[in-house]
Amino acid sequence: MYSLSIQGGVPLEGEVTISGAKNAVLPVLAATLLTREPCTVRRVPNLSDVAFMGKILSSLGARVRVHGDSMTVQAAKTSGFGDYELVRKMRGSICILGPLLGRQREARVSLPGGCVIGSRPIDLHLKGLRALGAQIAIDGGYICARAPRLRGAEVFLGGRAGPTVLGTANVMMAAVLAEGVTIIEGAACEPEVVDLGHFLTAMGARIGGIGSPTITVTGVPELHGAEHEVIPDRIEAATFAVAAAATRGTVTLRGARPDHLSAVLDKLQEAGARVDRAGGALTVGAGRRLRPLDVTTQPYAGFPTDAQAQMMVLMTQAPGISIITERIFESRFMHVSELARLGADITIEGPSAVVKGGKPLSGAPVMASDLRASAALVIAGLVARGETRVKRIYHLDRGYEQLDRKLRQLGARVQRLQE
Ligand code: EPU
Repeated sequence: MYSLSIQGGVPLEGEVTISGAKNAVLPVLAATLLTREPCTVRRVPNLSDVAFMGKILSSLGARVRVHGDSMTVQAAKTSGFGDYELVRKMRGSICILGPLLGRQREARVSLPGGCVIGSRPIDLHLKGLRALGAQIAIDGGYICARAPRLRGAEVFLGGRAGPTVLGTANVMMAAVLAEGVTIIEGAACEPEVVDLGHFLTAMGARIGGIGSPTITVTGVPELHGAEHEVIPDRIEAATFAVAAAATRGTVTLRGARPDHLSAVLDKLQEAGARVDRAGGALTVGAGRRLRPLDVTTQPYAGFPTDAQAQMMVLMTQAPGISIITERIFESRFMHVSELARLGADITIEGPSAVVKGGKPLSGAPVMASDLRASAALVIAGLVARGETRVKRIYHLDRGYEQLDRKLRQLGARVQRLQE
């Protein structure tokens, strides 16, 4: 097992290239199951979650080839079912359910486990697929779905916390091969859903309203192969942007899409950071003084839950009281107790974290609990005086491509150590 040793106190300076988006590439790779023809996906980030998805596709009978940052998948035949052990380990693999049902009219996929950020139900996925005519039973830890006929339907996918990203993806992917028209109301508008919609369209799907809460899918008999370049990772970009401001440095985010980052950039500016979008490049740097914030996570285009933990670290550096409210996942404050080990003053009150900022952090050993919590601990380590050791960084390798190397390029003193 690896850990990161970080000697804090160095402002990040320079340029970093943003990788393809993890949460876009996973459903796009799953969508390759919808055709027997080869599909090539470019700007695929080298992440353990992506390698995992490759294994799942292979276990389903697809031929998967990796060349540089491209992946070619040909699912000439799909054979059967999502392997229990593989699917259980990665929540994102639930998005093979929709394409398998669309392509083979039958799917048996392991129920994804819960995870530290909340219970992660899939009732909305199942509701949408049932509306298309699937019969679904839960049996021995598996979702067993059958649909001799898939028929277009009208379905509302909004839940307690708003729309569902992967639920929208699953229903879209089943509907593209259903008979007739499907209307998804309360659809997720996240850029990752839009990216999937573009890929499906390139494969011959007929989809309207992508990026809006009402998506209309007109089923077609079959899809063909296509090429696609995945969007840049807005959460990776947000993480580097926050790290630049928190370390009082200046970082240019090569390839980032500022239009996907509006809520994050807006909050950074409100906190006193400098955001410069001149000439197509996005640069974020520290301003003269940091100010406290009131941030609430929301579905897109609101402030993303996946950047909440990182933003909390910036708030520990802003003198005054910041309030961060988590509205998407019920227990996504696992980083708070670890940040306290570095000297952060944060209390949790219901869905909100109250951050008393402006006190210096000092290095300590900390334990990563999930992907974004790990990213937050790394930023805290970059800010803190002395050494911070972040343990269990396999979480980081799931979702950040070569984070330690990219940070070193920006001047950070970060080393990967074998425990
Ligand atoms: N929800 C339900 N029922 C469902 C599905 C979701 O009640 O059937 C609830 C969830 O419990 C949550 C809310 O709806 O309260 C939103 O969850 P959503 O379904 O949108 O999450 P997801 O699709 O499972 C994706 C990302 C997450 C990201 C969320 C929200 C992937 C692989 N994962 O998850 O990414 O936080 O959308 O934007 O795309 C991460 O990258 O660290 C990560 C956790």
